[in-house]
Amino acid sequence: MCNPVNEAPRKKRMLSCIQPTGTPTLGNYLGALKNWVDLQDEFEGAFAVADLHAITVRQEPAKLRRQIAEMFSLLLSIGLDPEKSLLFVQSQVPAHTELCWLLACCTQFGELSRMTQFKDKSQKHADNINLGLFAYPTLMAADILLYQPDYVPVGADQKQHCELTRDIATRVNGVYGNVFTVPEPYIMKACARVRSLQAPTQKMSKSDENQNSYISLLDDRDTIVRKFKRAVTDSEASVRYAEGKDGINNLMEIYGAATGRSFEEIEREFDGRGYGDFKLAVGEAVADMLSPIQEKFATYMGDRAQLEALMKTGAEHAQYVANRTVQKLKKKMGFVLL
Ligand code: TYM
Repeated sequence: MCNPVNEAPRKKRMLSCIQPTGTPTLGNYLGALKNWVDLQDEFEGAFAVADLHAITVRQEPAKLRRQIAEMFSLLLSIGLDPEKSLLFVQSQVPAHTELCWLLACCTQFGELSRMTQFKDKSQKHADNINLGLFAYPTLMAADILLYQPDYVPVGADQKQHCELTRDIATRVNGVYGNVFTVPEPYIMKACARVRSLQAPTQKMSKSDENQNSYISLLDDRDTIVRKFKRAVTDSEASVRYAEGKDGINNLMEIYGAATGRSFEEIEREFDGRGYGDFKLAVGEAVADMLSPIQEKFATYMGDRAQLEALMKTGAEHAQYVANRTVQKLKKKMGFVLL
């Protein structure tokens, strides 16, 4: 029997997910994924491929199937360790859709109407403004609350969804008694919003039509260096972090994240040197950072049986944890449990 006196205090929990809609960008990596890996020893983590979210916009089935496998492989390749963290595919854990319905009945129409992502996406996909797109944040709240996390590590664009999750959790706790931990978004200051290389006031996004605006995690070295060479900067020709220098600020944040250097160190390193030198250095640092990930990715993708075995173990474990939360809420809501 374990002795509670000597037991280590419980680690704080965190949960996050990513959609399998194309190869993640450097923005996804620096804004979210890299932090998941960096935090996985300190926290008890759960991470998922959010494939149910992907079908809120139309997907081609064969392509979606491939992208789910690719995203799962990438999560392993960046260093998420299934021995340390819970790693799974959302659609393989039925508790997500079940809790989503229970929470849908505790989410207000007005709240969902205010979500900026819904407004953006319904403009972009005007021919398919479906119920799932509208209810997206409720499914996201279910993803989170099932695992009772303390923190949700995300980029700045997901803050509004995380705040709605807190509101839903607080409301349910108020009506039915203590059901959920009310989680906080965990947004790193640096790289919370990695910008487009071509329009540095906008976020870097894999759905951007201009491929030069983003770095994909699977871009090869030459492509990465070329895209950084073409990055939009300003006419001052001085590498320093300052208001109004969006392009250079973005590159400095990326270079800092890739090399571990502070802004002061970067300014000193490039003092008196032109933007050409700086852009080349950023491109090479990013390529060096991504190449070991790309090598591991090829290995995981080459072993489908291992990949599916890892998915199965992850899904079984996740369903066990998630089901406890669903049962707890169903009981409090008045359902008859067998
Ligand atoms: P998704 O798939 O769009 O993005 C995954 C993560 O990457 C972050 N991110 C960025 N961070 C910095 N700079 C950028 N340019 C940038 N682009 C994307 C996002 O903030 C996110 O953290 N709704 C979520 C997926 C989701 C989820 C969840 C997240 C579903 N369920 C539960 C957390 C918890 C989304 O679409 O992320």
